[in-house]
Amino acid sequence: MVERVIPVADHRYLATLPVIPAALAAPTGHLLDRLQRPLHDLRISVTDRCNFRCSYCMPKEIFDKQYGFLPQSSLLSFEEIARLAGLFVAHGVRKIRLTGGEPLLRRDLERLVAMLADLRTVEGDPLDLTLTTNGSILAKKAAALKQAGLGRVTVSLDALDDGIFRRMNDADFPVAEVLAGIDAAERAGLGPVKINMVVKRGTNDHEIVPMARHFRDRNVALRFIEYMDVGATNGWRMDDVLPSAEVIARIGEVFPLERMPVTTVGETAERWRHAATADRPAGGEIGTISSVTKAFCHDCNRARLSTEGKLFLCLFASRGHDLRGLLRSGASDAEIAAAIGLVWQGRDDRYSELRGRAEAAAGSGERRVEMHYIGG
Ligand code: GTP
Ligand code: 5AD
Ligand code: SF4
Ligand code: SF4
Repeated sequence: MVERVIPVADHRYLATLPVIPAALAAPTGHLLDRLQRPLHDLRISVTDRCNFRCSYCMPKEIFDKQYGFLPQSSLLSFEEIARLAGLFVAHGVRKIRLTGGEPLLRRDLERLVAMLADLRTVEGDPLDLTLTTNGSILAKKAAALKQAGLGRVTVSLDALDDGIFRRMNDADFPVAEVLAGIDAAERAGLGPVKINMVVKRGTNDHEIVPMARHFRDRNVALRFIEYMDVGATNGWRMDDVLPSAEVIARIGEVFPLERMPVTTVGETAERWRHAATADRPAGGEIGTISSVTKAFCHDCNRARLSTEGKLFLCLFASRGHDLRGLLRSGASDAEIAAAIGLVWQGRDDRYSELRGRAEAAAGSGERRVEMHYIGG
């Protein structure tokens, strides 16, 4: 008899139950990891599902009707998410980003947004509360999200050309609806909107200049992202990566750009803007996110919480820390906070800096987490 292995969704990535230390140190709002990096940013994935099938994230051949997405019972409830978020904020988190899959597919997301909007940083300020979306249902949801307390949105947009866009999302989704979503977000007061374009050489790189032209006079930040080797399903090859330096060179041939200063420690993007010319004022921001050619792990302050409550310390991790297990074991806030503190203090992840080196290549052989599961 041939044995069939049925993957159990809950166990797709290894996760250990965090240790609760004997002495429960209260959160101080200043938590450092082993490389002296503070915890500032929490990314919460609220669903592993998406209505797009971008080949760099959820290739259709793998994420088909048979694919075992997480069952409802695995998901953290909004109450559980908000409780954990509060503990992360006590440790110094200032920014929370909701991601997916596609976060707007999670029913009643506005209710979670409202709960998170009530949190205050250790300094007593509102959080920077944001969301990354593919924009497909943003036009419908923008006003309600704003009303619930969302601060701003980042929209993924890989091409302006409708044919290329439909091919990139592999769901035949028209670009016009995403553009309408961006407009609706601006009208609702969710701006300035950030736009993320993953660049794949030979697939959408000829859309770089049209995108720069389209958004030149708008108050949006257009960011070009190097295609990364996240997960294990996208068949990544270095040849498909267009280095950010080349993106800037191509735009610079058509539009004069000027460098913008670094404003936030740990920001992912290097920033430029359209320089003023004789006939027009300075224009919109252009950013590059160069995880492949210019890693930014040295000040990475991001923690990631999966839909089922596993804490990951790096986009390229293969093991998580099972916070849901702690929550559902009846642990107290003080115990969970202390356990989170210990996990962050033990962190030394810096995959992008090690990429290609023997240390990274030698890896554990364990399957790396997928982007649709952990969010961008
Ligand atoms: P903002 O605060 O809105 O500027 O967020 P951000 O700059 O962190 O950007 P966003 O969350 O939109 O991330 C943009 C893209 O950068 C993601 O989709 C990833 O492709 C990449 N990215 C973000 N964070 C990391 C990270 O920690 N490591 C790596 N390697 N890539 C990242
Ligand atoms: N490389 C770079 N960015 C990726 N994203 C997903 N997969 C990849 C990849 N392989 C990011 C995109 C998208 C966000 C949801 O995740 O920026 O906008
Ligand atoms: Fe969906 Fe975003 Fe992944 Fe594309 S990149 S498949 S829109 S989660
Ligand atoms: Fe942070 Fe890991 Fe990305 Fe480096 S590769 S910036 S450590 S998430």
